[in-house]
Amino acid sequence: MRVLILGGAGFLGNNLVRRCLAESASEVTVLDSLAPLSHSTKDSLNAVWSDINFVLGDIRDEELMAEVVREKDIIFCCAAQTSHSLSMLHPIEDAEINSLGSLQVLEAIRLNNKKAMVIYSSSSTVIGKAEQSIVDEDHPERPLDIYSAHKGVAEKYFRIYHRSHDLNTVVLRFGNLYGPYGKGYSQFGFVNYFIHLAQTDQPIEIFGTGEQTRSVMYVEDAVDIMWRAAHEPRLIGETYFAGGTEHATVREIAEAVVSVFERGSVTYSTWPDDRRRIEIGPVSLSSSRLRSIIDWEPSHDIRSGLVRTRAVMEEASRQREVR
Ligand SMILES: NC(=O)c1ccc[n+]([C@@H]2O[C@H](COP(=O)([O-])OP(=O)(O)OC[C@H]3O[C@@H](n4cnc5c(N)ncnc54)[C@H](O)[C@@H]3O)[C@@H](O)[C@H]2O)c1
Repeated sequence: MRVLILGGAGFLGNNLVRRCLAESASEVTVLDSLAPLSHSTKDSLNAVWSDINFVLGDIRDEELMAEVVREKDIIFCCAAQTSHSLSMLHPIEDAEINSLGSLQVLEAIRLNNKKAMVIYSSSSTVIGKAEQSIVDEDHPERPLDIYSAHKGVAEKYFRIYHRSHDLNTVVLRFGNLYGPYGKGYSQFGFVNYFIHLAQTDQPIEIFGTGEQTRSVMYVEDAVDIMWRAAHEPRLIGETYFAGGTEHATVREIAEAVVSVFERGSVTYSTWPDDRRRIEIGPVSLSSSRLRSIIDWEPSHDIRSGLVRTRAVMEEASRQREVR
């Protein structure tokens, strides 16, 4: 099984690389531009370096993409500009990567490897503010930030390339993912940022009361459904929310982080204007479309996901010290 992971040096990519290697994929190729805005480096892949082919490159590079997609059985598309707030500051770059870059990937696959299974990781924020208590795929899409708008556009490309060109595309929409190899920066996923603050014994500052619910999922569960989707032809051609049934408030998540990491504290402040404007409000996602086709449930609740995050990170840091 030859696997290509676009954006494999990122948070989700790092976890996907390890899962593919654990599944004895015969060849794992990682392509990543190590985009400065993403804070990704090769270092996170040090422990698996000798087991992968690493290509430093950009998904917008037509020639490189034509070469790299050839003879792969599975292509995971995780390369993206992934910060909501940075997309508002760099909207053109976001469009170039998240919209045009996705199109470049699809064109390369159409012209060079139509048989590959192609899994695209999208975001639940393509819908914008939830207008129903439970959100499914029929919910209208009114994104509130540029990143979410471009993720929504890219989703449509993956669907169109299935319908018009018979590509084997599956789109999975995730809520907030957290876990090992996450980014400790406020512009990226908030749970990973909370974890970073707790680990470094800093206060976790919550805007407002923190009573808004979020769909959060441990990253190895996201990787699990991506791997399963890559082997499940019945999912081809559609878009699915992929998450668990557990929904927690931001306050509950922050308190769980402090409790599991045994450091940090929780504080409250008023919303900064730029954050309030792109805040999506309470969200409860339904993955019933996905579950009507395959039997899948995330295997971690918030507490067990955080406990596992701490264990994996501590083990990774022990390994680094040994090396
Ligand atoms: N982390 C989450 O909570 C979450 C939630 C929903 C969807 N997603 C999606 O999952 C995917 C991975 O997200 P992540 O959290 O790992 O983000 P990340 O920022 O950690 O990883 C993205 C990777 O893409 C790389 N990249 C950026 N532009 C590139 C380009 N032009 N060419 C090649 N590589 C490029 C970056 O260097 C980075 O390593 C993204 O598509 C994101 O939209 C993530």
